[in-house]
Amino acid sequence: MIHIMHIYMLAVSCLLLVCLPSFITFPVNQTGISGGVASFVCQARGEPKPTITWFKIGKKISSSGSVLRIQPLRVDRDAAIYKCSASNSAGEVSVSARLEVLEENDIPHGFPSIDLGPQLKVVEKNRTATMLCAASGNPDPEISWFKDKLPVNISSSDGRIKQLRSGRL
Ligand SMILES: *[C@@H]1O[C@H](CO)[C@@H](O)[C@H](O)[C@H]1NC(C)=O
Ligand SMILES: *[C@@H]1O[C@H](CO)[C@@H](O)[C@H](O)[C@H]1NC(C)=O
Ligand SMILES: *[C@@H]1O[C@H](CO)[C@@H](O)[C@H](O)[C@H]1NC(C)=O
Repeated sequence: MIHIMHIYMLAVSCLLLVCLPSFITFPVNQTGISGGVASFVCQARGEPKPTITWFKIGKKISSSGSVLRIQPLRVDRDAAIYKCSASNSAGEVSVSARLEVLEENDIPHGFPSIDLGPQLKVVEKNRTATMLCAASGNPDPEISWFKDKLPVNISSSDGRIKQLRSGRL
């Protein structure tokens, strides 16, 4: 029964090697600080390869590509609902996320802050490079890594890239 349903779903999203876009990474609600930075990431697969378009309160933004980076943040200008649309000749899918921007003197207790950021590194070929990032906040912040503005996909690196968790400093 489950098997039949699966085939049916594939038939709906792919027809004659044309597949409707589907999201691999989608933007999530976030809170930034005035003067700081916010990044929304939106990646989709599909056949042909989907085009990503960003909208702010329904209006198209000139920025395209899978990362929407806003810097420096301004409370009145940037706090809004942002939409990522992925489209190809098979159709379009979209997802929205909210950006909230706080004034510096409104930062709640426990808001994440980076205490130690990664440094430029020169490493011999075939050696292991370790990048450090230490952050504090309450609850404990989750740390994500980006390479050339895109999220690092640890599972596609064949074990070459590992994210290690150290204890408290
Ligand atoms: C994101 O924000 C929107 C609008 O404020 C809200 O409706 C939605 O539930 C939020 N999503 C999550 C996952 O918190
Ligand atoms: C790095 O390792 C590869 C495979 O083990 C080897 O072929 C290559 O010569 C090494 N390069 C250096 C600079 O040691
Ligand atoms: C990360 O890599 C895995 C394995 O190659 C792949 O299945 C997955 O879709 C990738 N995720 C993203 C967000 O690209």
